[in-house]
Amino acid sequence: MTTFSVVGPAALRGRLRVPGDKSISHRALMLAALAEGTSRISGLSAGDDVTRTAQAVAAMGAVFDGDRVSGGFSRLHEPGDVVDLGNSGTGIRLLTGLSAAFPWLTVLTGDASVRSRPMERITAPLRRMGAQVDGRGGGGLPPLIVRGGGLQGIDYGPPMASAQVKSAILLAGLGATGETVVREQVATRGHTEEMLRAAGADVSVHKVGEGRVVRLKPSRIRPIDIDVPGDPSQAAFWVTAACITPGSDVVVERVYVGAGRIGFVDVLQRMGADVTVEAAGDNVGDIRARYSRLSGTVVQGGEVPGLQDEIPVLAVAAAVAEGTTTFRDAAELRLKETDRVATITSELGALGVRVEAMTDGLVIHGGGPPSGGQARSHGDHRIAMALAVAGLAGTGWLEIDGWEAVGTSYPGFADDLARLAG
Ligand code: S3P
Repeated sequence: MTTFSVVGPAALRGRLRVPGDKSISHRALMLAALAEGTSRISGLSAGDDVTRTAQAVAAMGAVFDGDRVSGGFSRLHEPGDVVDLGNSGTGIRLLTGLSAAFPWLTVLTGDASVRSRPMERITAPLRRMGAQVDGRGGGGLPPLIVRGGGLQGIDYGPPMASAQVKSAILLAGLGATGETVVREQVATRGHTEEMLRAAGADVSVHKVGEGRVVRLKPSRIRPIDIDVPGDPSQAAFWVTAACITPGSDVVVERVYVGAGRIGFVDVLQRMGADVTVEAAGDNVGDIRARYSRLSGTVVQGGEVPGLQDEIPVLAVAAAVAEGTTTFRDAAELRLKETDRVATITSELGALGVRVEAMTDGLVIHGGGPPSGGQARSHGDHRIAMALAVAGLAGTGWLEIDGWEAVGTSYPGFADDLARLAG
């Protein structure tokens, strides 16, 4: 196990780029595998999650040559071995949907965290489409065994707000007979439908209240050409650290700033933060953050899906802010790489922050920088990096055990920290 130490307070100054967006990277690889011909993908996330997806589509027959990926039905085939997606919930859920479209046997698994995460949310609708899907725990836990093909489109309203569930169904729907409809009560990130449309799929999206209805007809898709923008979920660590550490001024360049991803900026601004977003292209922007005093807020309802991955680091901002911050309607937090309600409560608690755990969220009593001390990632990359931000804003020496977890999404985090703090 690796330990990483941060000594605070340490102001951050400068400009940087973060790794390519993880959600877009996974989807780019999968669409390139499905598209007949050669796609070009640059700026992919270098984290282990996306590397696993690249290995998975290669095992299914996609061919890689530098930034070129050649795919299509003529190339793809049954994978010769178990497909191991490591720590990646997005990888296993989306690839289970994609595999269901093909008349093969695919066995998908992951690390201990992924093997404990609920898959019934995707296996149930895929079975309704006609796929044979089995797994441990009565069919809802990995390893998952998929025998696909012969699918029929469905009209489905997922019981939880989940882009992964929506995406698994849509990827399966590409190869189904008839239309596939996904009805979201609350809109989640729209990368799958946006990227499918850009690749020529017959897909439409309609707003209904806070939600969306996505309709997809079986489609062949064209090769894609994409330069993956920076990951807003990674930018959030630097933006938040700059907001809460006196003397900081940071610009994160070329970040994806489209709908459903930068809700954390709204929350920080509501707390009184000095954060601005300057457009730098289509759905791409530069985010600048400078230190200012923050106060507590309430985060709830329809805004939660657009910032749920950022709650660990927003919890650190809440700890420093004046007053109380409440996160509610966030029960999904308990089903991430770790039970993040539990891990945020225990680890910020270890740094002297008063945190109350709720079934569906957290109450954080702010009022000052966290203390130094010892904290643990629990194998969760976002908990590890949120703790590093707590260390930057904090007082004293903080040791974070289980630092290797950052390799999942941001292997260069410590180098970027050294440059900004140097
Ligand atoms: C993701 C969707 C979110 C998010 C995850 C990535 C995606 O999960 O937490 O990190 O790429 O679709 P859910 O939408 O399933 O909650």
